[in-house]
Amino acid sequence: MHLGIDFGTTRTVVAVADRGNYPVVDFLDLDHDYHSHFPTVSALVDGKLVHGFAAQTAARSGARLIRSVKRHLADPDLTLESVIDVDGQQIALLHLVTSFFTALREALQQSSTLPEGEPIGAVIVGVPAHAHTAQRLLTLEAFRRAGFEVGAMLNEPSAAGFEYTHRQHRTVTSRRNCVLVYDLGGGTFDASLVSVENADHEVLGSVGINRLGGDDFDLLLADLVLEKAGVREQDLPERALDELVEQCREAKEGLTPQTRRLGVEVGDQMVALDVADFYRASTPLVEQSLQVMEPLVAGLDAAASDLAGLYLVGGSSGLPLVPRVLRERFGRRVRRSPYPGASTAIGLAIAADPEAGYTLTEQLSRGFGVFREGDAGREVRFDAILAPDHRVSVTDEVVVTRRYRAAHNIGWFRFVEYGRLDDAGQPVGDLSPRGELIFPFDPELRRGQDLLQAPVVRLEQGHLVEEVYTVDPHGIITVRVTDLDDGFSVTAQPRAATAAS
Ligand SMILES: Nc1ncnc2c1ncn2[C@@H]1O[C@H](COP(=O)(O)OP(=O)(O)OP(=O)(O)O)[C@@H](O)[C@H]1O
Ligand SMILES: [Mg+2]
Repeated sequence: MHLGIDFGTTRTVVAVADRGNYPVVDFLDLDHDYHSHFPTVSALVDGKLVHGFAAQTAARSGARLIRSVKRHLADPDLTLESVIDVDGQQIALLHLVTSFFTALREALQQSSTLPEGEPIGAVIVGVPAHAHTAQRLLTLEAFRRAGFEVGAMLNEPSAAGFEYTHRQHRTVTSRRNCVLVYDLGGGTFDASLVSVENADHEVLGSVGINRLGGDDFDLLLADLVLEKAGVREQDLPERALDELVEQCREAKEGLTPQTRRLGVEVGDQMVALDVADFYRASTPLVEQSLQVMEPLVAGLDAAASDLAGLYLVGGSSGLPLVPRVLRERFGRRVRRSPYPGASTAIGLAIAADPEAGYTLTEQLSRGFGVFREGDAGREVRFDAILAPDHRVSVTDEVVVTRRYRAAHNIGWFRFVEYGRLDDAGQPVGDLSPRGELIFPFDPELRRGQDLLQAPVVRLEQGHLVEEVYTVDPHGIITVRVTDLDDGFSVTAQPRAATAAS
């Protein structure tokens, strides 16, 4: 069986390749009802983790729900050792996500519409286009520990691009050959411009915000409701805020283009709100997505006549406000996916299907660079090693190298992943530290000395140094610094700090 798994902030959706069709897998809940997703929620019951529908059931009897775990993975400071606090208990994120995927695998095998007993082969999994290395690594590691064989990890909007071509291939012509995928999910926003030629897809550009999604609309609505009710957040009893946000999410999902009023309960009062007020307050969130998308739009021709479609996917594009704002800007070519919550998973299943023959040329989608400290920290230069539009491959490694003669006895490197560069060439946008490396260029300093204490001095005849940056097919970047004169080498690990000794 070839599966595509879209691990979402709120919902995890799985699709299967089945003789040229890509049906979404349904999961049974504890009441024996089917759902086209597995809820991305967990709960602690008597110190034990439960997930999905079991977690939702536990929450109804008072257990605390752990939601939007994927948002923590987008945390710029994430490492494989990161922990979160759940009711005073420290839980390692890697453990939590592994446990969630284990439950997902069991659900796929035991309580889903997949044929029972058939082994799950290699799966293709999705990750936000802007996910940094630590997020990719943790996601991959958790899938593997949960017993999945991961064939590839693709950027979510690229997968949705596959689904578009599969479904709407008639709109793609030799002149109109670009698809702008607009993916507004539960916790992340991603947009990618994909050019399509038959089954060959090339990502021309990709932008995104790691923390913009349906969750933000829910919180905003909750604020409006509290304000209208005259209740302060801090005066709410414990868990009441969670319940309120949940109710707001349901009310939001129930909105149709015709809805004028919505009602939400706070304590024992029913608060009625004009939908127009909610839309007015949340328009800036949609505008934020438009704003980050501008560089992609600039890549289209003047009249955007090469655009086959602006494809709205992600559950939050179901909010009537979203297509409304986008149509004001892009007109008729705005198309909503018939399965906004499932197009990524369907695209991943297409990618998993060897028969489909779809190919993808991908971009790195975020930058990677290094701050080099010279002169004992008196001088810091930023070197943008890999730009966000750097071509990467979903099947092979991509390598970039730098070579120079060491000018000092010690090299200080601070690596970062970044969203984009400002006019001065400094990294801005989603910025995540990727560890530090202190490299002893002087062989005398490789005997376990504390390099932080060693004075930095200039070298007359420094060794030849090589930095090798490798992007693997999952978008995971590793760095290796080598003294080419004697072979001494250090690999920077993706944790907070690494010092060579
Ligand atoms: N009809 C609807 N109207 C408005 N919002 C909706 C609707 N249906 C679902 N949503 C919202 O869509 C979000 C979930 O979307 P989706 O399943 O695409 O996200 P996800 O894959 O879980 O998250 P992400 O892709 O950000 O990691 C939730 O915030 C949910 O409230
Ligand atoms: Mg999603």
